[in-house]
Amino acid sequence: MRDLLPPTVVVVEAGPPDWVGDLLPEEAAGLGERAVESRRRDFTAGRVCARRAMAALGMPAAPLVAAGDRSPVWPAGVVGTITHTRGYCAAAVARRTEVRSVGMDAERHKELSPGVRRLILRPEEEERLARLPGGVGWPVVVFSAKETVYKVWHPVVGSWLDFQDAAVDLDPDAGTFTARINPERVAAAAVADPPSVVTGRFVVAGDLVRTAAVLPLR
Ligand SMILES: CC(C)(COP(=O)(O)OP(=O)(O)OC[C@H]1O[C@@H](n2cnc3c(N)ncnc32)[C@H](O)[C@@H]1OP(=O)(O)O)[C@@H](O)C(=O)NCCC(=O)NCCS
Repeated sequence: MRDLLPPTVVVVEAGPPDWVGDLLPEEAAGLGERAVESRRRDFTAGRVCARRAMAALGMPAAPLVAAGDRSPVWPAGVVGTITHTRGYCAAAVARRTEVRSVGMDAERHKELSPGVRRLILRPEEEERLARLPGGVGWPVVVFSAKETVYKVWHPVVGSWLDFQDAAVDLDPDAGTFTARINPERVAAAAVADPPSVVTGRFVVAGDLVRTAAVLPLR
């Protein structure tokens, strides 16, 4: 993930002890006592990585609680993002004075079923993917890019984006993506200067697909 984001963003990937690290009391209360083991491990690794990233940024330790919609409530002055997928977790943070929003997502590199593809991909995206070189599961790369786009969009705009609300173009040689947001969603956004295009980077390595993007300051 480090290579996918600019140096203004601190990125921390989880090591083995982080999955069973300590939660702050407010975080533990938010997770709840009945969380299943896998959810407890993912949530813990995300919080431990986020705390280490905020410390690297020089921010005081603060609990990272979740809003009602489960999005993380970053401390004042901080923008950040968390992702976890079986056995991999990372958190990234930046100062709000340097970055407007940051998002990242990790997925296992796998085929998507035709039904999932229909939900995730727009027809013109399917056409473009058919022209890309073989050997990579491009649909899951687009899926991950769209989740990254949502993680960038939601903290800024506060509204929902469907998978069909972004049209993603991949550049396999550059390892970059460009996501154009449905103009109706942009026009309906209740914030000044909502993002209409999100550009980011991706990498497919081993069995992991990783995507990340920042929204620069206005
Ligand atoms: C929120 C969402 C993107 C998370 O992605 P995911 O692949 O399921 O899971 P990841 O492990 O990568 O990310 C989970 C983390 O995302 C963060 N997150 C949750 N909701 C979020 C939101 N609304 N905005 C930003 N970050 C959010 C949380 O930190 C969460 O981890 P935590 O619960 O341990 O704190 C996904 O569940 C979702 O709702 N997608 C539908 C919306 C969408 O992606 N639309 C596409 C628009 S183009």
